[in-house]
Amino acid sequence: MTSNYRPLPQTSPLDEDVEERSKTKSLDFKHLKQRSNLPLLLVILILILFVSLSLNVLLIPRSSPKAGCDCSPKTPVTAWNDLEPLYSPAQDAVRYERRVFTQLGVRTKYHGPPTNETDEAWDSLYNMGISRITSSEAALLPNRTESIPEEEGVSVISLDVFHQLHCLNNIRQALWPERYGVPELIPSLIKGDPTPFDHVDHCVNILRENIMCNADVTPDVWQWDEDKQMSFPRFDVVHTCRNWEAIIDWAKARQMNYVWDMSIHVGHEHDHRPPIG
Ligand SMILES: *[C@@H]1O[C@H](CO)[C@@H](O)[C@H](O)[C@H]1NC(C)=O
Ligand SMILES: *[C@@H]1O[C@H](CO)[C@@H](O)[C@H](O)[C@H]1NC(C)=O
Repeated sequence: MTSNYRPLPQTSPLDEDVEERSKTKSLDFKHLKQRSNLPLLLVILILILFVSLSLNVLLIPRSSPKAGCDCSPKTPVTAWNDLEPLYSPAQDAVRYERRVFTQLGVRTKYHGPPTNETDEAWDSLYNMGISRITSSEAALLPNRTESIPEEEGVSVISLDVFHQLHCLNNIRQALWPERYGVPELIPSLIKGDPTPFDHVDHCVNILRENIMCNADVTPDVWQWDEDKQMSFPRFDVVHTCRNWEAIIDWAKARQMNYVWDMSIHVGHEHDHRPPIG
């Protein structure tokens, strides 16, 4: 309904805030590089996000959300189209549950500034390492994986969620160079490519791909905030989540707890599912 969208006042409190802040702090690049200004940078990024979200509201109201949309509640359908979910050896470990995300401003043990406890908290999210799967499980994978020389009929994989968390931790560490050092570039991983490999940059991209792949459509809501005297976005809403402990239990039970010799090529005899697509 178009009437639900009223144009924002010319200067919203957010605009004032941004202006105020840019007056009091010079935001040149050197400043942003400095650790001490990171919270300010984050605040400004969040404000920019809010302002741009608000602007969308300002710019799009002409097309009523009702137009061309049957918005009445329906029985949810999983639209797999012609695709079935691809096999994962961990698929039976997937349990769904509801979780409320952290309220904006509330700090968890994963927040900075980093301490030994922060590091420990982050490491324990993904130090499950590599998982051992059976050759018959490996044969069901859409992509080939190697058997290991140490154990007959055992292949290796690692769950992507652990790689994602490792990458997020890598980006987090890059934000605190005085504790973790300045991230170093290494020679390109692509033969003949002169451009050095930037691990942090790789991590940003892999997380982008994952966020877009999973495209969480949980609605964040706007609620009236009495203290601020304005409507404010809330991220502490209920999400449908995969139970984390069940995934961890799966990985711990399969954890490879020795160093396997990657330089021996066992080869594989089994066929794989034909490539999809
Ligand atoms: C943090 O861990 C490092 C390395 O293990 C250690 O040298 C340091 O004393 C620890 N710091 C604190 C505050 O416990
Ligand atoms: C995995 O399989 C897909 C689909 O066949 C293919 O496009 C992709 O290149 C494969 N990746 C690897 C590493 O085998």
